[in-house]
Order: sequence, then C-alpha cells, then structure tokens
Amino acid sequence: MIEYQHWHPVAIAQQVQDKPVGVRLLGLDVVVWRDSHGALHAWADRCPHRGAKLSLGKVLADTLECAYHGWQFDAATRCVRVPALPHFTPPASHCVQAYFACEQHGLVWVSLAATQHVPPALAFSASQRVVHCGPYDVATSAPRVVENFLDMAHFGFVHEGFLGARVATGVTDYTVERTARGIRATGCKAWQPQSNLHAHKGALVSYTYEVTAPYCAVLTKVPEPGSTLLNGQPVDWRESIALWVCPITQENSRVWFSLAVVDTMTQAQVLRDFQNTIFAQDQPVLESQSPKRLPLDLRAELHTAADKASSAYRRFLQDAGITFGVC
Ligand code: FES
Ligand code: CO
Repeated sequence: MIEYQHWHPVAIAQQVQDKPVGVRLLGLDVVVWRDSHGALHAWADRCPHRGAKLSLGKVLADTLECAYHGWQFDAATRCVRVPALPHFTPPASHCVQAYFACEQHGLVWVSLAATQHVPPALAFSASQRVVHCGPYDVATSAPRVVENFLDMAHFGFVHEGFLGARVATGVTDYTVERTARGIRATGCKAWQPQSNLHAHKGALVSYTYEVTAPYCAVLTKVPEPGSTLLNGQPVDWRESIALWVCPITQENSRVWFSLAVVDTMTQAQVLRDFQNTIFAQDQPVLESQSPKRLPLDLRAELHTAADKASSAYRRFLQDAGITFGVC
C-alpha cells in the first residue's frame, strides 16, 4: 500500500520514555520504544515466540523484554536472550519485524516502508511559539478529518459565535493549486466573531491551507489588524495550525494539532482549551458522516464552488493512490 511509504504520527514524543508504548497504525499493532541513547524504535507489536504484545513488556538497558517468557530483543531487533535456555544463543532468524521511527514536530512518526519524507512543520517564525494539542480519538477516517480542516462553509454553523456567524456564511472565491506534496488553497477569507483566544471583536480572517501529506495539513490564519489584543495592546496576530492525523484503522483516527502563535505569555493549557472547544464542536458532526471513508468518486456526494478545496483534496488522494480511509 502506498500509505506504507508515508510517515504517520503515532504518539507525543515526550510520552515515549522508559516504557514501550503500543499504538495502532494502518490497522497494524506497532510498539514504539526508546533505548538508553534516546533512539526510537518502532516494531511490529508481536513477539515472534508466541505472539504476545511486546508493548506489555519492559525496556531493560537497550533491549525490549517480552512480558510472557522474557525473551529480550536488542535495538537491532535480534533476540539476545531466551531465559528458559540460559546457554542458548538464538540464531539471527529470531528477530522482530522492524519499521521506521523518528521524532519530528514533538511527535513520534512511524513509517512502514519510509520512501517519503516527514511532512514539513508549521510556517512559524522565532517570535511564535508552538503548543501541542491532543490526542483526540475520532470515530471516522483520516481523510474525513483532513477534509473538515479545509472546510470553511461549516464555520457559521458548527462554530457559531467562534469561527463563524449565521449572518456571514458566504465563502468568497479562493484559489486552489496542486503542490509537490498535496494541495494549497490561498485567498480564503472568513468573517469570525472570535477567531482566536484574544480576539476582542469580530474580524475578517485570511486563511491559507496546505495539505502536506495524505493525512496532514497546515493552515495559517491572519485576522484584520486591530482585532486582537494581547495584554490590552493591539498585536499583529498570526497563527499557524498543523493537523496531524494518524490513520489507526480505515474508520478510526487519532488527531493532534500543533499551534504556532505570536503569544509567549498565555499558558499552554489555556491555548489548548480553546482548541479543545473548537474540536469538540467538530467531532460529533465528523463522527456522524456516512460513509466514514471519504468517497473519492466525485459523483458520490454533492460539491459546490465553495467546496473546491475538498474536491481538490479528493482528486489528490485519488492521484496519489491512497486506498486507506477512502471508498
Ligand atoms: Fe514473547 Fe514468549 S511470547 S517470550
Ligand atoms: Co471545524
């Protein structure tokens, strides 16, 4: 599957310390662990001896020990100890299936085949700061989550009073283009009563969206000058939000956001709470969509000019050969 060649977020990097962590990716059980040098490893979460989950085991020095009979596997996946036979030297064939792991953007990324690059980070500058939000577990496919992130026509309904208002639901024309990694939509505008935590009045907000991988996207939003106050002072607010979606199964996803904001004062949790509020508004609608897999045949659902970013996203997934989470 082409999805195996891409990198997918699976966990917050800081949460993978001295214990193995079991995750699910593309329908597979994967164990992620960190050795004493801090290097990350991602393996099939299945002991080759009797099939127990390695994520139930322990990290001992630079080996992962299975919880069932204590076999130990070194960082190169090879079994180095079979406690039931203390004098036995296991052959090279006694090993675990390895995948690829790395740490980027505060998350652990796993690829099953790793021919692509990890998607790029936010478009932020040094004056901004990055806050991670999530995970959010959502009972729908990863592409439905990405498409919702690109969708402006829902603001006045799902996020009424925050990102939209029923008196300003029109989506003005915008531009969509194909990029090397996905698509980009520019010139997007939305009138928002409360576009961010510090907005003190409604404002027209300019958006740029970029799909950076089949299940990842980044947006940048800039409200009209003077609409956002930080400590009572007008601030040139701009923020960038990255959406990282892990396709757990065809119809279940785990979602994280990274926020880059020009705000070094507000506690991270307060910024997170705002994002949690917004996502809690999206989640019930997302989980209600049927089918849960995103239909790539454009005739399967109805599209208007306001939806051209999502139509372009569907075409991109089709052209990229994506089969997981779509129908
Ligand atoms: Fe893992 Fe036996 S199942 S050591
Ligand atoms: Co929304």
